[in-house]
Amino acid sequence: MANFTLNINGKTQEVDVDPSTPMLWVLRDHLKLVGTKYGCGIAQCGACTVHLGDVAVRSCMITVSSVGNQEVTTIEGLSENGDHPVQKAWLEVDVPQCGYCQAGQIMTASALLKKNPNPTDAEIDMAMNGNICRCGTYLRIKKAVKIAAGSES
Ligand code: FES
Ligand code: FES
Repeated sequence: MANFTLNINGKTQEVDVDPSTPMLWVLRDHLKLVGTKYGCGIAQCGACTVHLGDVAVRSCMITVSSVGNQEVTTIEGLSENGDHPVQKAWLEVDVPQCGYCQAGQIMTASALLKKNPNPTDAEIDMAMNGNICRCGTYLRIKKAVKIAAGSES
């Protein structure tokens, strides 16, 4: 075990865990930030997506010891009131079905729009490609990303 000081959603958090612990389990089990979901554990589904700095990463593959003082943002910290433009577009389109994959989808979409505020259809497809939705909400996800980008109403 080792002590780590992490920057999570703008707050300093201390955890005492094995250095090889994936961030997914630090977030869910130690910090009770359960919006980040476990799907596959091998970077194949995107359910566990969070931001490291401005970049969307798979928290199941990032060890706590590799995070250092980089800022981690989870779905709980994306906006104070749940009113990030991507979250508002998600509500407008009523995207989720079972909801399981949706935090990961939103974190991937919000990282895309931060880097590229006006993505083309192909760029949206490429960015969202690694986030699997077993309910098949892909068309609504794409529409919501475009609404959040201001390219569709
Ligand atoms: S749980 Fe991390 S990508 Fe599937
Ligand atoms: S909404 Fe059910 S897995 Fe995506």
